[in-house]
Amino acid sequence: MKIQLVVLPIAILLMLLALAVGISKLLLMGGVITQPFISLLLPNHGQLMVFGFLSILLATERYLGALAFPFHPIIHSMPFLVAAGGIIQITGWVSNIFPLVLGGSVILIAGFIIYIYIITSIGKRSAQPLPFKYMSLAAVSLISASIVGIWNSPVGNLPFSMLLLGFPILTILGERVELTRFVAPSISSLARYGIWILAVAFALILIQTLFPAVAYRPLMLTWVLLLLAVAIPLAWGERRLMTRGEKILHRYLGVHLMAAYGWLFLGIIALLVIVVNGQTVALMDAATHSLAIGFIGSMILAHAPIILPAILGRPLIEERLNRLPLWLLTTGNFFRVVSERTCRRNRSEESDSFGSGRSAYATNRCCICDCYAQVNSAFFRQPSFNPIKTH
Ligand code: HEM
Repeated sequence: MKIQLVVLPIAILLMLLALAVGISKLLLMGGVITQPFISLLLPNHGQLMVFGFLSILLATERYLGALAFPFHPIIHSMPFLVAAGGIIQITGWVSNIFPLVLGGSVILIAGFIIYIYIITSIGKRSAQPLPFKYMSLAAVSLISASIVGIWNSPVGNLPFSMLLLGFPILTILGERVELTRFVAPSISSLARYGIWILAVAFALILIQTLFPAVAYRPLMLTWVLLLLAVAIPLAWGERRLMTRGEKILHRYLGVHLMAAYGWLFLGIIALLVIVVNGQTVALMDAATHSLAIGFIGSMILAHAPIILPAILGRPLIEERLNRLPLWLLTTGNFFRVVSERTCRRNRSEESDSFGSGRSAYATNRCCICDCYAQVNSAFFRQPSFNPIKTH
């Protein structure tokens, strides 16, 4: 077994930590608890999930694929750099030591520069380089998010949260283009245009993250419509895969693809409502987690039978494929997204009268931040730097 695979248990631990922080946040925002647990990481739940869990998992998967090629030996350091970068960042967030956050981000970025070297080198050797262009754009999105994340928090910040989710979403779209080139060749022809549409979408969300006051609505509306322009043909192209039924693996993949694309469209619709009607906590949460848990979660489960044998070096036993994780994920996320809307309405946190829809969220955030700050000052050291203070 490759020594680099030691980073996978770290990725799982960071996923569990990110989930625990997410649950702590949800219970706090729902008024179920007043003292959040793991409060020092409350502002970093999204970053923990993407920089901690997803970047290590996807980077290691690509590293194993790169071993078949005579690449520069530096590739063997990539999984370690990605894991170390994430851990040092977390230590910085917990200890409020800015140089650690900066150092961790720089190490993570170094790891992802090697990741881009691997992806582009495999692409150059591949008969189908297109999927690797999606994955390179995904890595650029992660590098941008880690730079922005040095000084900013994604809490309540829709463009930054979407930039953060850009890495897993674009990587998964790249894997779909790669995996469907035989069974749905129409996808490949469409994907040639998709990469340019997504490159423009990435540029728009980066501009919005860096300059939030610049033409928020027109830019975000264009961004959401560009996502739709890729999601619709891609889902249409994969429709046969969703209904194929010959083998257990095909049926397993089909139902997961159906769930994943369902959540992708639900997330995009929630984003559209946010851009048109204004941002609220409930809508932001529904949009973020339809994409984060619904689309990304279902696709990770869909790809597991293809990825796990490569990672574990053991053949897949099709008869053992199980849909329970998907049903639990889908039911849980469905209740969460639906109940968000209803219980928030009772607490009258809906969008504001200023038309931008963002200050209402900022107001809500302030009370979350206030709560966080109170808990922090009561129980912990005064933070030397605090991303929440950016707003
Ligand atoms: C059981 C699972 C999860 C729970 C309970 C949870 C909980 C939360 C809560 C309460 C928020 C704040 C909502 C808001 O302020 O709008 C949030 C935000 C967010 N979550 Fe999750 N989450 C979960 C899973 C995930 C996953 C799997 C991802 C990524 C792959 C993710 C990424 C994000 C992002 C990017 C944000 C917005 C930025 C932030 O507030 O940190 N979450 N999550």
